[in-house]
Amino acid sequence: MSSPTVVIMAAGQGTRMRSRVPKVLHPICGRAMALWPVHAALEAGAGRVIVVGGPDRALEPVLPDGVVLAVQERPLGTGDAVRSAAEHIGDDDTVVVLSGDVPLITPEAIRALADAHEASGSRATMATMVLDDPSGYGRVVRAADGSVERVVETKAAGDATEAELEIREVNTGVYAFAGGPLLEQLAALGNDNAQGEYYLPDVLPGLRPVGAYVLDDPTLMLGVNDRLDLEAVRVHAQRRILDAHARNGVTFVSPQTTVVDVGVTIGPDTVVEQGCTLAGETTIGAGCTIGPHTTIRDSAIGDDVTIRHSWLDGARVDAGATVGPFAYLRPNAHLRERAKAGTFVEIKNSDIGEGTKVPHLSYIGDAEIGPGTNIGASNVTANYDGERKHRTTIGAGVRTAVDTTFVAPVTVGDGAYTAAGSVVVSDVPPGALAVARSRQTNIEGYAERRRRPDRRASE
Ligand code: UD1
Ligand code: CA
Repeated sequence: MSSPTVVIMAAGQGTRMRSRVPKVLHPICGRAMALWPVHAALEAGAGRVIVVGGPDRALEPVLPDGVVLAVQERPLGTGDAVRSAAEHIGDDDTVVVLSGDVPLITPEAIRALADAHEASGSRATMATMVLDDPSGYGRVVRAADGSVERVVETKAAGDATEAELEIREVNTGVYAFAGGPLLEQLAALGNDNAQGEYYLPDVLPGLRPVGAYVLDDPTLMLGVNDRLDLEAVRVHAQRRILDAHARNGVTFVSPQTTVVDVGVTIGPDTVVEQGCTLAGETTIGAGCTIGPHTTIRDSAIGDDVTIRHSWLDGARVDAGATVGPFAYLRPNAHLRERAKAGTFVEIKNSDIGEGTKVPHLSYIGDAEIGPGTNIGASNVTANYDGERKHRTTIGAGVRTAVDTTFVAPVTVGDGAYTAAGSVVVSDVPPGALAVARSRQTNIEGYAERRRRPDRRASE
């Protein structure tokens, strides 16, 4: 079988979304809508993928390498959209046309359509489906021999007759064509219809007999015209992502409350508890426990990590480490193997050594902490002088007591200690104890004097 040329129409305005963002750029599970059919086409083994976009070229920065943007100067209709990609279509190509607002199409469906088309020898094959409520779609009029005669549009009054509106078989907006004949028909296409648009289905009568490839799963062809459609499509896309992970050995305790973006990878035997969001370019190893109620974005998590009730963004957590409950790991927080970031702990741009623990109520920013160190409760790196950030360096096997403040830049040597409540402003040599607080003074009899002020006057 050949590698089809795939054209994805994505230059329409999408006014029904009521959005400043072009419709096809709205994200679905972490990927722009129009990129869903793009990836499906690439996975289906497309020889060439062309996306038709508007002159603002808004789509261009998000297209995968090798995918070409063809610009449609004005949205004159779907026929004109495909015509805008004409220079990329070869006479001998099998051309599959998809819509950027029909994101759930699968690589398998694209392959099956292209295969059915090539096997039939037809010049055009249209994917159709039969709907209980066909409103809004173009209706398929079949010829006496069972082939597709034409499509009647229904969006604007005047294109379809009463009898045609009764038809429940609809055009999905997905087609396969023989390249040369398609180009000929596009060149001759007119716009004499109710909307004054160049309708792509109007090429079909000139390519008869046209085959129909009837899809039995209409969810593959759900279109997005407004935000309600977007919600519906999202549910299917999310289900598909979770199912794929589950087949690979991931447990989702509460799939209904779990959000996993399309770019996320998860190792087997990882359990994701309820209320978790795994977003962006996140990788999670095997045997982890994630959640409940944890958000992880653009982070790399190793094997056998436990993360509870926490928020991670741009962090790296190595094997066997534990996070939370209620930890906040910000960009470039790196917990090395078996390290711990505990309760009410915030870490950013810091390297936490192997087996090092930051168990309670601490802020660690712009720091480097060696292996086997224990950070006491409520330790804070004072990393910002109001203008610049400074680094704190803490060695291996250090024991810091509660309420130690490190005024950066400062270095604490290996095996050193700090005393509780210390404000460490100068370097601490290895093995030393830093006591950086004022000496305690006890005022004897103070309470008694407070209770009996008259005694003081008479004394
Ligand atoms: C189209 C079909 C209809 C079919 C339906 C399936 C036509 C005329 N009608 O209708 O038979 O049942 O899809 O969903 O083709 N686009 C462009 N440039 C344009 C116009 C549209 O790139 O000038 C793109 C849109 O961004 C969208 C796709 O083409 O991704 C379909 O356009 P849309 O206006 O949504 O067509 P429908 O009215 O849904
Ligand atoms: Ca549409």
